[in-house]
Amino acid sequence: MFKVGLCGFGSMGKGHAQLLQKHEGVKLVSIADVRPDCREKAEADYGVKTWECGEAMIAAGGLDVVFICVPTYLHAPLAIQAMTAGCHVFCEKPMAMNTSECADMIAAAKRTGKTLMIGQVLRFWPEYVFLKNAIDSKEYGKLIALSMTRVGGVSTGWDNWYLDESRGGMQIFDRHVHDCDAVLWMLGTPKAVYSYGATRDPRTNGGIFHNFTEYRYSDDFVVSAEGSADTPPGFPFTACYRAVFEKGLIEFNSRLKPTLQVFAGAAPIAPELPDPIAALTSGMNISTAGPYYNEQVYFFDCLRKGVKPEVVTPEAAMETIRVVRTEIESCRARKAITLS
Ligand SMILES: NC(=O)c1ccc[n+]([C@@H]2O[C@H](COP(=O)([O-])OP(=O)(O)OC[C@H]3O[C@@H](n4cnc5c(N)ncnc54)[C@H](O)[C@@H]3O)[C@@H](O)[C@H]2O)c1
Repeated sequence: MFKVGLCGFGSMGKGHAQLLQKHEGVKLVSIADVRPDCREKAEADYGVKTWECGEAMIAAGGLDVVFICVPTYLHAPLAIQAMTAGCHVFCEKPMAMNTSECADMIAAAKRTGKTLMIGQVLRFWPEYVFLKNAIDSKEYGKLIALSMTRVGGVSTGWDNWYLDESRGGMQIFDRHVHDCDAVLWMLGTPKAVYSYGATRDPRTNGGIFHNFTEYRYSDDFVVSAEGSADTPPGFPFTACYRAVFEKGLIEFNSRLKPTLQVFAGAAPIAPELPDPIAALTSGMNISTAGPYYNEQVYFFDCLRKGVKPEVVTPEAAMETIRVVRTEIESCRARKAITLS
């Protein structure tokens, strides 16, 4: 039985807590949050012991696994404290605020021998797994063009941490990091990135709220991504991609039904995608719970087998932070930047 402690019972923490109920051999035993109302809800929903902060919960001991769902600036210190205390760690994305913090987390994982997995959830999202398989297998020939989109309204979070660059890193860092990570997972590190972004000073002190990025690989194919956290209320969150291959096109749009279509013949086809969560009870407060469940299943499977997660290694998650940081540098320098 893995005894799990959860740090942060905000938006993501609540989602992970619900999904943690769905595994055999996993027990959510404690939840920490600095907000009294969140602790009350945690006690009411799960009857677990609650703590006033993650630091105190970890220090009290008795846990095998710590889930980290606090604002990003707290990922590194809490993950390092948890591993040093002998716990395996599942930590939400982005891994940490910068590569130096990521390196410290990796060093702690090596020193303690504990598992550290970052929740780069697109690696467990059926539509993105489908695209990666198509690229790897060359079923539709070589990839020619890929565009990714992730746009929605502003997130604020506890204490407006999302709007504070020093605590959340801005939209380009926090939200667009998903697509950056997917691009790297599917295609490797590009030779260079060129990003440009729009800002909205009143809300973010100049933070980049809307960005376009070109990932430059070679002349053989082109890749771009758009990310935003500035759509008006009422505009639904939208994630999509369009991948053009020599012999077909794959299109994903989270707002369409079916979400995924392949155009490689006379008529489009909608591939069947696995949806393990559909078989579980409904009522989740995250609309697409399946991929988050998939990543949890993978994490606990790795722990049971005593193997380190390969789908997303800490080093890969750190490389994503390096590239997205370079995108921010590119926005600010208004020029393409080469990645060594
Ligand atoms: N994978 C995804 O799709 C996805 C989506 C949204 C957010 N996230 C990530 O999840 C993390 C949390 O985001 P969120 O939207 O849930 O934020 P949130 O603001 O809704 O929740 C964070 C919670 O942490 C609590 N907290 C703050 N300091 C704490 C401490 N020291 N100990 C314990 N609790 C503390 C706050 O009270 C709050 O309830 C962020 O890193 C974010 O980038 C991931």
